[in-house]
Amino acid sequence: MAGERESIHGQWSSRLAFILAATGSAVGLGNIWKFPYIAGENGGGAFVLVYLLCIAVIGIPIMMAEVLLGRRGRQSPINTMRTLAAEEGASKYWRLLGWAGVLAGFLILSYYSVIAGWAMSYVFRTGSGLFTGLTADGVQSIFNNLISDPERLLAWHTLFMVMTMIIVARGVRSGLEKAVKLLMPILFVILFVLVGYAWNSGAFDEGVKFLFQPDFGAITANGVLIAMGHAFFTLSLGMGAIMVYGSYLPGDASIAKTSIAVSLMDTTVALLAGLAIFPIVFANGLEPGAGPGLIFQTLPIAFGHMQYGAFFGMLFFVLLVFAAWSSSISLIEPAVAWLVENKGMTRVYASIVAGFATWAMGLLTVLSFNLWSDVKLLSMIEVFEDYTLFDLLDYLTANIMLPLGGLLIAVFAAWKMSRASSVDELGMGDRFFYRLWRFLVRYITPVAVIIVFLNAISLI
Ligand code: PHE
Repeated sequence: MAGERESIHGQWSSRLAFILAATGSAVGLGNIWKFPYIAGENGGGAFVLVYLLCIAVIGIPIMMAEVLLGRRGRQSPINTMRTLAAEEGASKYWRLLGWAGVLAGFLILSYYSVIAGWAMSYVFRTGSGLFTGLTADGVQSIFNNLISDPERLLAWHTLFMVMTMIIVARGVRSGLEKAVKLLMPILFVILFVLVGYAWNSGAFDEGVKFLFQPDFGAITANGVLIAMGHAFFTLSLGMGAIMVYGSYLPGDASIAKTSIAVSLMDTTVALLAGLAIFPIVFANGLEPGAGPGLIFQTLPIAFGHMQYGAFFGMLFFVLLVFAAWSSSISLIEPAVAWLVENKGMTRVYASIVAGFATWAMGLLTVLSFNLWSDVKLLSMIEVFEDYTLFDLLDYLTANIMLPLGGLLIAVFAAWKMSRASSVDELGMGDRFFYRLWRFLVRYITPVAVIIVFLNAISLI
């Protein structure tokens, strides 16, 4: 079996530690902030169905492929791809896949951190009782005040980047493993509390219908691409985050079981978030397609009206910040691991370099909600008419770079890597489940990604 190579960065203490870390990476703003608002913008049920299908048919097999490559290479994604390509007799250009991943992680973190900053500021807003008794209008204007103030956004973004880089500098294992172990279960509990609130005081049926009753007239080819892109985004796939975490996975852990466990937890959190938010949206006559501000404009209404709402609200946003935190470190880990391996930097120095660059890039997102909110670079293309710089950055990374990265990971694992190597590394024998996986990553996944791409391109 696997494990002849060792990672210079250390290893997870157990299989469970990997599951927690990978879940920590997967569960984040994508589930709680992004999933509800893009489901709302793309018509609900049909979108959710496509997303779930993509998780099952594309997401889980690619996650297995990504962990497989990571554990076999045991280095940063760039060096893993270089080593494996040489070993499997493939072109040396496969290392570019590692580079593309580093770039995607850098771009995603640059805006992710700004949104995490919103969540941090909401810890104090909810905690202070600011929302008590407010109507939807009041809650909305508080949100608008925040995002129209670049200095405040910048301050929170800076704080979040510093927090991220501190953890990365200390190494993935110390601190983080422990924090995730404690926080994930609490996050589940509070999501249940919110769903309970929505059940009692929201338009629950309407919310459920919106999420689960597919109306295929409501989804476009672009919506299908967004659903697929989100499957990659929410599972942290296609840019090396899961690959680098896989490189710290002990050799005897089952890749299939861990991947399925992580995907199930991730999907559950997203659906719970949807069930908590949409009933409140409908009960208060809000717009499901309100955009990136959706959770910040809906959940505070609930917190403003429930008993101990200030407490629950604060707790919720604290957990959201932690969920974002444990995702953000995985976005930058591939870059930091590479700087340590190839540039001879210490982890601390590498973290400062990578963190500073990402922070600077984040200014684009900060400004795109206020001073530059009218800058629409692709306004000549109908689909992108209203896209701000932030929207474009998100679209480019989540809907193009991640699926493309995932496609190439699938091609490498199923076409370039020898059958013997993947059988050996997955460790489940050359039997039914292995064959199913190989069939999915060899044929279904690449073809599905290409079809969705072609459909979306035809819109332009
Ligand atoms: N999966 C994370 C989330 O849902 C975001 C992420 C994407 C993290 C890609 C790592 C890599 O919030």
